[in-house]
Amino acid sequence: MRKKLILDVDTGTDDAVAIMLAGLHPDLDLVAVTVVNGNVPVENCTDNTLRTLDWIGRSDIPVYQGLSHPIVREDFPTPRATKRDPKVHMAVLPLPAATSAKQDLPAPIFLSQAFAEQAGEITLIAVGPLSNLAATIAIDPRFPENCAELIIMGGAVNKSNITPSAEFNIWADPEAAAQVFRAPFRKITLVPLDATHEALVSKDQCDMLRAHGTPASTASADIIEHRIKGYEANQPTGTPQSAPVHDAVCVAALVDPQIIETQHVNVVIETLGEYTIGRTVVDHERRTTRVPNCHVAFHAKREPFVAMLSQTFAPATPSQVKAS
Ligand code: RIB
Ligand code: CA
Repeated sequence: MRKKLILDVDTGTDDAVAIMLAGLHPDLDLVAVTVVNGNVPVENCTDNTLRTLDWIGRSDIPVYQGLSHPIVREDFPTPRATKRDPKVHMAVLPLPAATSAKQDLPAPIFLSQAFAEQAGEITLIAVGPLSNLAATIAIDPRFPENCAELIIMGGAVNKSNITPSAEFNIWADPEAAAQVFRAPFRKITLVPLDATHEALVSKDQCDMLRAHGTPASTASADIIEHRIKGYEANQPTGTPQSAPVHDAVCVAALVDPQIIETQHVNVVIETLGEYTIGRTVVDHERRTTRVPNCHVAFHAKREPFVAMLSQTFAPATPSQVKAS
């Protein structure tokens, strides 16, 4: 049976690849996409999401727009944004203008209703700031227990990408993240930068993707190459001509949990520190008596991840067409 999922995104280059993987993988049933402010303003994130779904022929998947700001802070994205890199994300993805439109219902109301109607059956994958999730918890305290699993792209243990202490998605709305990690979700899996930087995609692999000649393969190759240029300019990965595609790793891990290697540990979010706002405090050495609340991916496997992108974005075989 295909796994049902809802993606919460801030599209975003790596979000777009995650959407394409979720929308096209034969083992997944992408029920809906919800959108949050993050990489670019929420209106742009929604437009980019619609463009991506239209481009791969999945305009049937409904898109719900959510919060345009963090749940508490009024200083996002400036002046706190120390260095949001325009070379990695784009206000408008280089895809044809969307012909489909977002739904009228706000994302938190949709999330509350969708998970209540199918309690325990749908996985939520959140790959942007966690504002929509916190807003849903505020209106529906049962929402966390209605999610089969929550997989989050965010945080870091030994890396960072926005301040020396923090990863972007958690830093962008730390109070929302703190509420999510305190909430009674059945299972939270966190895929931090430590894991996503092990699943790099190279320029050569982009060429391999592009050679498939499908809408998803050509778009993902172009988008990942754009990311590679951005990383080369600002955040070298240590592996030449390569970049992480963070958000897509979460989708891959839902299909094949062996792609990530996790430890069950306690995670809390720093919201007060002068230098450390948005830090994921991961108690992987058991320095406290806090109860484990999260499966943190410390590693990810590059080869099966790239192979999954390639297989999913390749032209459909006759048997796949028949099965779908
Ligand atoms: O830190 C990486 C995350 O921040 C990814 O989800 C990327 O899309 C940005 O939102
Ligand atoms: Ca994202």
